[in-house]
Amino acid sequence: MPTSAEPLVSYLRQLEAKGQTHVSVDDDARLILREFYMRAKGGQPAAVEQKTVSQPVSKEETKLPEAVVESAAPAESALTVSGGTAREKIDSLRQQAEKWKPARGLGSLRQTMVFSTGDPEADIMLVGEAPGFDEERLHEPFVGKAGQKLDDILRAMGVGRKQCYISNIVKFRPAMPNQTTNNRKPTKEEMAACMPFIEQEVKIVQPKVIIALGGTAAHALLDCDLAVARMRGSFHEYQGIPLRVTYHPSYILHNEATSEKRKLWEDMLEVMGLLGMPVSDKQKSYFLPK
Ligand code: URA
Repeated sequence: MPTSAEPLVSYLRQLEAKGQTHVSVDDDARLILREFYMRAKGGQPAAVEQKTVSQPVSKEETKLPEAVVESAAPAESALTVSGGTAREKIDSLRQQAEKWKPARGLGSLRQTMVFSTGDPEADIMLVGEAPGFDEERLHEPFVGKAGQKLDDILRAMGVGRKQCYISNIVKFRPAMPNQTTNNRKPTKEEMAACMPFIEQEVKIVQPKVIIALGGTAAHALLDCDLAVARMRGSFHEYQGIPLRVTYHPSYILHNEATSEKRKLWEDMLEVMGLLGMPVSDKQKSYFLPK
């Protein structure tokens, strides 16, 4: 048993400086951390016999200063889908996502898992990149400013948010050093680690159309790295299902140009046409020059 936590803390600080915010620990490491913690608190070190205690030490107890220590979850890296209804099947995925080792083991994603929202039997499936500050807080995709913009778009189409299935490629908010409300795009590794979920979600939901919101979601689903401007404007396919790429709602929030809004809206008009939804003259004319 090391006598000082200094080398460990300095190592963790180096990792943190490089942007890593989580580390996985096994049971032995967790016990050692607990010893350090107890000493720092001035309490009695835990007895060695505790090694055999099956109850895991809580995260709070093993938390190092400014370093988040992730509980070592069972090594689950194969998804299983269980349940009879689409909702039960999605719930079975949601439960596995909580402890998804390939994502958690990266050490670059935050702890709170945000899965999906809406109707698992919806005709329209919308896919974004990853939860942000607001989504993490409310445990639901697209509930912040980008989410409000998405709700506006759906409302203009005559569709309620609850009638759609809304998900993200990455199920955890990407972490950053000294993170407050700021968000970052997920890395390719983070997306690859979570891809099995969206693959299964599409198989379960079987939507009539998938809308990829922004380049990150489109790159993950279509395995390419073209600009949104090149991918939007026509239908692609994912698992044999028509997929429309369009701008991320946050792009529209930051780019108020009517021409960009019109491009996104034209993608939505195409989606409505594909689904056989009625399109009024008023809807056809949104964001056209007067
Ligand atoms: N942006 C995304 O891509 N997904 C969310 O859930 C929120 C913002």
